[in-house]
Amino acid sequence: MAAFPQGFLWGGALAANQCEGAYLEDGKGLSVPDMIKGGTVDTPRMITSTVHEGEYYPSHEAIDFYHHYKEDIALFGEMGFKCLRVSINWGRIFPTGEDAEPNQAGIEFYRSMFEEMHKNGIEPLVTLSHYELPYALAKKYGGWSSRELVEPFVRYARLCFEEYKGLVKLWITFNEINCLCAPFGNIMGGGILPPGDNVALDYSTKVEWDDEQRRYQALHHQFVASALAVKAAHEIDPDNKVACMIASRATYPYSCRPEDVLFAQKMERMANHYCGDVQVRGAYPSWADRLWREKGVHVEQEPGDAELLREGKVDFYTFSYYKSSTVSTDPTVPVGTGNVFYDDAVNPYLETSDWGWTIDPKGLRWYLNDMYDRYQVPMMIVENGLGAIDVVEEDGSIHDQYRINYMRDHIEQMAEAIDDGVDLIGYTMWGPIDIVSAGTGEMKKRYGFVYVDKHNDGSGDLHRARKDSFFWYQKVCNTNGEVLG
Ligand code: BG6
Repeated sequence: MAAFPQGFLWGGALAANQCEGAYLEDGKGLSVPDMIKGGTVDTPRMITSTVHEGEYYPSHEAIDFYHHYKEDIALFGEMGFKCLRVSINWGRIFPTGEDAEPNQAGIEFYRSMFEEMHKNGIEPLVTLSHYELPYALAKKYGGWSSRELVEPFVRYARLCFEEYKGLVKLWITFNEINCLCAPFGNIMGGGILPPGDNVALDYSTKVEWDDEQRRYQALHHQFVASALAVKAAHEIDPDNKVACMIASRATYPYSCRPEDVLFAQKMERMANHYCGDVQVRGAYPSWADRLWREKGVHVEQEPGDAELLREGKVDFYTFSYYKSSTVSTDPTVPVGTGNVFYDDAVNPYLETSDWGWTIDPKGLRWYLNDMYDRYQVPMMIVENGLGAIDVVEEDGSIHDQYRINYMRDHIEQMAEAIDDGVDLIGYTMWGPIDIVSAGTGEMKKRYGFVYVDKHNDGSGDLHRARKDSFFWYQKVCNTNGEVLG
């Protein structure tokens, strides 16, 4: 097996709204996920137009990372993390998005968090927008479907680059930007809210407010905002490196029927290349005109946008990888379950997780090779992991060999990809400590090396405990991936 390069960034990844809690503390404003109640694998999350007293909203307390970050970062340090991916909650810095002055308490909270990481030998990788934005901006403008969001976002991004200069040099603009075109990211990351109160986020139902015109236009606005942020990051500190972040969709044709092969290519282009091309190559792909025409979408662009996208290219490519997808044009082919990509055919060669996601380590090698061939910039996996049900034994131990197996098999394929010539610089697995699931709002779907006593109904004393995987990953980090057994 090929060796991982010196300085490889082993670590984990978190999102503010899924871990911090303290949803109104120290001047923070409401953000979109604060309006979304918990669901389960069978019942959808509901979004409300005001906070309903006495009802359970997972982001309000989450795992209270806001008050536990020092002990949690110490645990990551103990595991030997070299990198921790976190996100800044925009509403802690600008509570309504358009405030005359930033919220100093919010600025200081993140400064202290980044300092704590450095004390533990951990490099921060910071996402500016991870499935959230100030609720006031979503309400007032219809989220990113309006170009009005570009200016407040760039102001917020500039402030972060200035405040955290010297503390943070690795940045991501938008998490899973390509999910803006899937119903999931449309609401949480796009801030395109449904009309009414208590609306089910039933991602497979197409409703009137959820149209593609709005989504593709919103995506263009995020591309513009991202390009402006990249330029600002470079100007404020030439050491800054900024990445795109794509929810990968390694796509296989269900059969060798040419229709299936062409369909897989189309899905792959829409899911992966559309956003990757704009953010890494600095231009929409050649087939975008036909895509828009066939969808009946018109993407309004201002003069100068094309030049801006060229100037605001990212420095490296990051992505999440949980599963691969299999697609077919044949309506009789059985369809499985997934999160954002709900039209997947069942792949008979792959097993699935408790939540129906395929488990496919080789798909990760395939994706790394495919994207590196295309973009030729450093690559980083910033999310990967297994959401599973953990059992706490009577003595408090948690034996999560299934999680170790999942990650070991994926890391082996990373090594293969490095041997294939891919410039892979890091791996921050998803949810190193148990956090709220973005898709279902559950705590039961756990990814962590560190267990948190918090449950689907909001109960639990929040104590932390090391799982078996904690000690396994400690060896991985400390041997630079040489010991995976
Ligand atoms: C990614 C998101 O899509 O998947 C994370 O960036 C999310 O925010 C992760 O938590 C896993 O999904 P889930 O639904 O299991 O939390």
